[in-house]
Amino acid sequence: MNLELEKYTKLKPDMKDYEHNLERLKSYDMTGWMEIDENVDDIIETAKNIDLLVVIGIGGSYMGAKALVNMFSNPFTPSKVVFAGYTLDSHYLNQLKEYIKDKNVVLNVISKSGTTLEIKKTYEILKEELKKKYSKEELKDHIIITTDKVNGELRKEVEKEGYKSFIIPDNIGGRYSCLTPVGLLPMAVAGIDIKRLLSGAKKGLKHEKLAYSYASIRKQMYYNAKVVENFSAYQERFTYFLEWLKQLFGETEGKQLTGIFPTSTINTRDLHSLGQFLQEGTPCMFETVIKVEKENEEIDKINNLVIDSVSTAHYGHTPSIIINIKDINEESIGELITFFYLAASMSAVLFVVNPFDQPGVEAYKSEIKKRLV
Ligand code: PA5
Repeated sequence: MNLELEKYTKLKPDMKDYEHNLERLKSYDMTGWMEIDENVDDIIETAKNIDLLVVIGIGGSYMGAKALVNMFSNPFTPSKVVFAGYTLDSHYLNQLKEYIKDKNVVLNVISKSGTTLEIKKTYEILKEELKKKYSKEELKDHIIITTDKVNGELRKEVEKEGYKSFIIPDNIGGRYSCLTPVGLLPMAVAGIDIKRLLSGAKKGLKHEKLAYSYASIRKQMYYNAKVVENFSAYQERFTYFLEWLKQLFGETEGKQLTGIFPTSTINTRDLHSLGQFLQEGTPCMFETVIKVEKENEEIDKINNLVIDSVSTAHYGHTPSIIINIKDINEESIGELITFFYLAASMSAVLFVVNPFDQPGVEAYKSEIKKRLV
């Protein structure tokens, strides 16, 4: 991968405090994601026996898996992995109950804290469904819990019921966890080559300087009143990857009255809607565009020609940063994931906020608790 930082902006990365800020980032104790654990044989073996996995998670506990399952699946065939727990919509849940009724299904509850309402409630409802068709003993083959090593209700349940479980490491927070069992089990069930993904992720971790250059340009954008970042891609399959980016940057950086608001467009679709705003609306935005260089087919060439045309047309009003990747495969996407982990956390360091907490999210969780007692 490479970045075109200066082609469609007038800014230059400021590398003056790079070493110092990198040290500041590494001084946080939630940087476990900087080491890739390649010991994934248990995950791969477990995945082989699963026909249909229902992931129950929200935020960092599902978004990475959703992004990659979506990216590497055929959009026209039913997926082996479906998602729940990120909505309290009864219609969705009822349809899901109906869908899994006659299927050989495994629930994968994913929650680091074990206390998140949406996850707890969805798990409760779907477990009741499973109890209708499986005995207490059989349930052990149909429930997998991914949670903290020692703390929380879910860990207690693993110990009490003897369910299969995976551990979310202490030093890795939700949105930085998609390369742990949180994301890897669903991805493996969906047929994604997770070893290749992790090998790409190791490469991405080497892009510390590049990630800092990007973080530095972002910060300057902010000081030039460009307070909204539009992540943009030109492949349909990036749709949930851009959602993942919104979560990663939004929760990492948006606190203490600062940060850049992340949004996204999938083009060329959105050129016919938000494209108007980006060209002529309130000049508060810049774009980060993911461009895939491989041009196997004529339509890919046209797609890339559109990217160049759009960035040129927007330039002056909405500046762009282009991230080039050679192709879409597990290796390149793994590399992109850790590059963005570095970029988001380094950006937070530049905004002088803690990259790894989310007090704003906790605030709404505790309001719910007050109302539910
Ligand atoms: O990034 C984060 O920490 C959050 O998005 C969490 O992943 C999300 O709130 C779910 O939390 P938990 O896994 O504790 O249920």
